[in-house]
Amino acid sequence: MMRNPLETYGALGRRYGDAIRVPFGRERALYVLSRPEYAEHVLVANQANYVKAFTYRPLRAVLGDGLLTSEGETWRRHRRVVQPVFAQRHVVGFAPQIVETAAKAVERWPDGVMLDAAGELRRLTLDIVGRALFGSELAGEAGRTGRSLEILQRGAVAGTFLPGVAAKRGLYQRVPGLSGALAQLDGLVQRVVRGSSGGEMLHLLKERGEFTEEELHDEVLTLLLAGHETTAASLAWTFVLLSRYPAARERLEQEVDEVLGGREPQAEDMDRLPWTRAVLEEAMRIYPPAWTIERDALEDDDIAGVQVPAGSTIAIPPYLLHRNVDIWPNPEGFQPERFLGDTGRSRYAYLPFGGGRRICVGAGFAMLEAVLVLATISRTHRLDLAPGMSVPLRAEITLRPAGAVPMRVTRR
Ligand code: HEM
Repeated sequence: MMRNPLETYGALGRRYGDAIRVPFGRERALYVLSRPEYAEHVLVANQANYVKAFTYRPLRAVLGDGLLTSEGETWRRHRRVVQPVFAQRHVVGFAPQIVETAAKAVERWPDGVMLDAAGELRRLTLDIVGRALFGSELAGEAGRTGRSLEILQRGAVAGTFLPGVAAKRGLYQRVPGLSGALAQLDGLVQRVVRGSSGGEMLHLLKERGEFTEEELHDEVLTLLLAGHETTAASLAWTFVLLSRYPAARERLEQEVDEVLGGREPQAEDMDRLPWTRAVLEEAMRIYPPAWTIERDALEDDDIAGVQVPAGSTIAIPPYLLHRNVDIWPNPEGFQPERFLGDTGRSRYAYLPFGGGRRICVGAGFAMLEAVLVLATISRTHRLDLAPGMSVPLRAEITLRPAGAVPMRVTRR
């Protein structure tokens, strides 16, 4: 489980179905639940009985009291400040900046050359979130930040089951390797916070939140990391899948050409690009960047027929939920048409952004960004994997391609 959680979850699911009890320690158990009814109960209907699981502790050591890892009153206060910036009617205002940043990045790509698509997309999404939320130019930091995140994710997973250790930032700072990664991220946050131009989110955090300096640091770091790593992963998987499914890619290029007719995309095009959106949704079904969502139960509960004692850990892995054959026939197949029209599926059958009050605060921003970036790139360029090349997965905190993803870029 520790060495290869994704494969282990997959194997457990195939062998034991969609409600699995995995004993660990003397009394506790992990429940791996992958049906929409279970997800709805834990994340929404009875969410007051659940807190973020102990497995988030190492993440908490890094992100502190930011939105992703805080609880209770601190979480509520932060969410009240951050959420309005991500309201749909507000988010569309970021569209011109997203498209401009993406178009500029693509212009730099030489024709016919192999690039590391994962690295390029991480650089682009960090640049977008830096500019849009904080008025900072961060593209040049992407390489180092990516390496820090690799190191910290590995350290976090390794530290999960060492209770006294996992939650302490001070201890991480003493581990060679981890300390360098933390210092790099601190430097990044400091440059953003001290940046002269600011950006709307930074103003809000400074003025509305009554945050301590540490809380401000934690929230900026949370938004920078949660706001680019996942979107980069979903775009990287999308290009990998498009390269393997030429018919889906042709339909995408056709849609982009017809709708845009040579101009750049804008927010209003979101509804006119249903296939582009479906391609992204299907990529996030197969490779959900947040591949598992975990909670600890405060009291005994009955989760749609599964009895769980207080103190149990519940995993609702989108990775398994999105492969449940009762809901998703041919689950390994890339079929964006699953997301067109009225599907009749439960809304809890597909949870790339989680659910309930802890649902991803940046979901609207992420979808806008991903559709606009995919349309901007596909308008002029095509990315191809080397023939026969496989892309290994790495599932730690996020599910992403392991290492570089060499793809050939050609101008269309
Ligand atoms: C494809 C891109 C993204 C995916 C798949 C994703 C996924 C998720 C998921 C599943 C959660 C809930 C975790 C849980 O319940 O334990 C979450 C929370 C969160 N996400 Fe995202 N996210 C994405 C993009 C973004 C962006 C662009 C931002 C900000 C700019 C962002 C900021 C956050 C924050 C702050 C939280 C914590 C919210 C809270 O607990 O109140 N995410 N995300």
